[in-house]
Amino acid sequence: MRRWVTIVCTLACTIMLSGLASRTQATEKKVKVFILAGQSNMEGHGQVRSLDHLGAHPTYGYLLAKLKSADGSWAIRDDVTMAWQAKDRKTGPLTVGWGYGENEIGPELMFGVVMGEKYEAPVLLIKTAWGGKSIWCDFRSDSAGEMTWDEKRILKRDNHLKPGRFYRKMVAEIKECLANIDDIVPGYKGQGYEIAGMAWFQGWNDFCEWHLHLDGKGVGMGLIDRYPHNLAAMCRDLRKDFDAPDMPIVIGELGVGGHEMTKRAENPDDREAVAMVKFRKAQKAVADDPSLKNVTFVPTADFWDTRLQELRRMSDAYWREKQEKGIKNTEDKHLPTKELNDEYLRLGGHWYCHYNGSAANYALVGYALAEALHAGGGLALTPPMGWNSWNAFEKEINEEKIKAIADAMVRSGMRDAGYTYLVLDDAWMASERDQDGRLVADPEKFQSGMKAIGDYIHSKGLKYGIYQDRGRMTCQQLPGSFGHERIDMETFAEWGVDYIKLDSCFAESNGRMSLADYALYRKCVQATGRPMVLSISDFGNAAWAWSGKESAQLWRTSNDIYPWMDSVYACAETATGDRAIHPAFNGLGQFAGPGHWNDPDMLHVGNLKHIDDERRNIADRAHFSLWCILAAPLMAGNDLRTMSERVRNVLTASELIAVNQDRRGIQGYKVFDEGGREVYNKPLADGTTAVLLLNKGRENSDITVPWQRIGLSGAQPVRDLWAREDLGEFEDSFTTRGLGQHEHRMIKVGRPGPPLPAPEPMPLEKYTVTRKGKTYLSDLYYIWKAGNAPVYNAAFGGQPIRIAGQTFSKGIGAKGKCAVMFKVAGRADRFRATVAMDDSSLEDAKGWFRVYNEDFFANKVLWDSGKMTKGSPAKEIDIELRGVQCLMLVFDGEKTLGNWADARVISNH
Ligand code: GAL
Repeated sequence: MRRWVTIVCTLACTIMLSGLASRTQATEKKVKVFILAGQSNMEGHGQVRSLDHLGAHPTYGYLLAKLKSADGSWAIRDDVTMAWQAKDRKTGPLTVGWGYGENEIGPELMFGVVMGEKYEAPVLLIKTAWGGKSIWCDFRSDSAGEMTWDEKRILKRDNHLKPGRFYRKMVAEIKECLANIDDIVPGYKGQGYEIAGMAWFQGWNDFCEWHLHLDGKGVGMGLIDRYPHNLAAMCRDLRKDFDAPDMPIVIGELGVGGHEMTKRAENPDDREAVAMVKFRKAQKAVADDPSLKNVTFVPTADFWDTRLQELRRMSDAYWREKQEKGIKNTEDKHLPTKELNDEYLRLGGHWYCHYNGSAANYALVGYALAEALHAGGGLALTPPMGWNSWNAFEKEINEEKIKAIADAMVRSGMRDAGYTYLVLDDAWMASERDQDGRLVADPEKFQSGMKAIGDYIHSKGLKYGIYQDRGRMTCQQLPGSFGHERIDMETFAEWGVDYIKLDSCFAESNGRMSLADYALYRKCVQATGRPMVLSISDFGNAAWAWSGKESAQLWRTSNDIYPWMDSVYACAETATGDRAIHPAFNGLGQFAGPGHWNDPDMLHVGNLKHIDDERRNIADRAHFSLWCILAAPLMAGNDLRTMSERVRNVLTASELIAVNQDRRGIQGYKVFDEGGREVYNKPLADGTTAVLLLNKGRENSDITVPWQRIGLSGAQPVRDLWAREDLGEFEDSFTTRGLGQHEHRMIKVGRPGPPLPAPEPMPLEKYTVTRKGKTYLSDLYYIWKAGNAPVYNAAFGGQPIRIAGQTFSKGIGAKGKCAVMFKVAGRADRFRATVAMDDSSLEDAKGWFRVYNEDFFANKVLWDSGKMTKGSPAKEIDIELRGVQCLMLVFDGEKTLGNWADARVISNH
């Protein structure tokens, strides 16, 4: 086998050798390997001469210092090794010049710096990228299956193309590199490696096929339609080929042209912009594919230097003018004046589709890719565990209590059982900000200030969590963060905060989409450079539908939990699906996974009321088992200072916690639910599976789980997780007998081995718009609802929808209040329907129909019927929906039913 040649400059060698001693410990840790794959933009065309410009960035300017040595030269990192076969030198320490040319950078530089800072272990970046290659053909992998008609046609035309050739090259290069890791990573001691993630970042090849080569004949557009399928296949096959089924993957958006592209695309004749916008959506769709876990889309349109863009336009005009005048290009000048020319070159001054050659932009892309992998590969990889003050104390918190809780978390063994976040909920702050606009502690409750309490929490080996609200006030009417997002996140970072619960009271007057609101916080958090978990608290307003996972690690699925079993079950149901969304989904599990979790609210273990003393343990355990099998965040909410031994034993039950914290991160789902007798299943990483058999009903019951319902057969070992006891082998099924109300068994079934299949996700086309033309909303599963469930293709009572003598076979029947949300994912251009109150309305009936963009907090009403009465004629809706991700239909009615006849969306693309 060919050996890898490592040629590095003397300086780098000296640094590496002197670094070795201090890294002896670190080298024992497995090498963290990241794959940086893609096309020309991953190769990297950021001109190093423009890298200093990064310092001028209003938010991320501070990153520049990370790239420099003390003497101002570009730093060489001995803890991060680059490997890139395309390069003459192949491997060496990370520094500038690992771009396409030796004076260029790609995303690898800042990506590696972030990872180097994060991991004590040595980091290896394997770059594998080729410009001008396509996903549909060159990088095509096996599971993409047979080519579509479009693809075949283009292949026939460009018969030099070899499908899959570069996919195979990529795999071979990575494998070769891994096989030679001892040569490549300095100080490698045979400790092994771990593929910690992959970033995909590309050029424009997959969309320009259409508007360049095919000259708008409409054929190549099909390539973009097929892009999500083909890229998803590549992700799946790479995970298989590297035996890394959970490898986190981030996909960097093709952000060239910035946000202006979206505006330009409103003009259908601007074909480049139309194709670009469609292409970006296709990139995002891969991350939304429910069958692919842990793939994150990373927007990069923000990293588009508008000044450089302006200069480029001037340069284009200048050349055009010269050409028109027939002036030959004698001097190498891009712009009319020397000042402009210098500025152009200083900022990059290179081809537009390579981010104009701006090294600052490439650095920012690398940063964003690393941060996104961080979030997916570092923060909340398993459901967060900790304690939150609200359920125990509500507003009554203060320094002494919180310190005592921190002490109790250590003393009781809670911390060691995994409960690391200590979160201060609402009412820690003073009623006014200080004169600089900063939040301050309530001076009576937290005399030493919020940094001091954070220091105390950290001194106990715990992590510090804090509450804020994205509205102008918190739910307790204290200062909220609206308009202070940046300064508040900076303040939290200064205080050493590790976790932010971000509530939503009063957010309906923010005038921003919820998606945009949380994205703003994520951006401000990122700008602080401190990793902080973001927890969306919005009473379950569908964050899973509007892609909350792009910004946050967890989101509420429910209203507030109360300390009684009805409330505990109702909250759990919002995550298992039956009440909150269409039962066909069988839960929200497909939206959860490492780095993003459904949160049915905090625990009330130890607080439960309305239950006899002797049944308290049964109820506490049922509550805890449910949260464990649902991979729900485990935020204890009881007073730990006075916790009984019994409650302690529930909260620290290690075999239950292991199910919750299983690294595969599958949310347990209902296998069946028959009159209060319920069985849940959660396949685990080690090939076994956890099963909960729960009786919610009043009658004593036997419950059986047949193996074939959980993907097993024959004789299987069973372990009781509460009793911590092996129960022996059971043939074909397991039965537990005579369970009283709230009684359950939590068992682990099977033998270690290859992981059992994950539950089948609901395919995209069943719940979102995936095709051109008309889609009736009643042909899609809704993704969220509040109030009464809608009825499909009939009025609420089941009778046909009839308006002014006409019968409609399609539509939605509602009874007020009924709010129902559909994910249209930016694919719908118009919404049309005829609305009317049902014929059965009483004389004094009143009804009101409204159509919203996204959730109630976004509060963006797209259409409003006004108040209608029995005599009001039907109203036609025909509205534009450009860019809408989630469409919400709301009907309020008194003494009437409401009909959304023929409710449909139309997609022109
Ligand atoms: C609610 C939230 C609770 C708690 C409370 C504080 O909106 O759901 O969990 O944080 O506000 O005021």
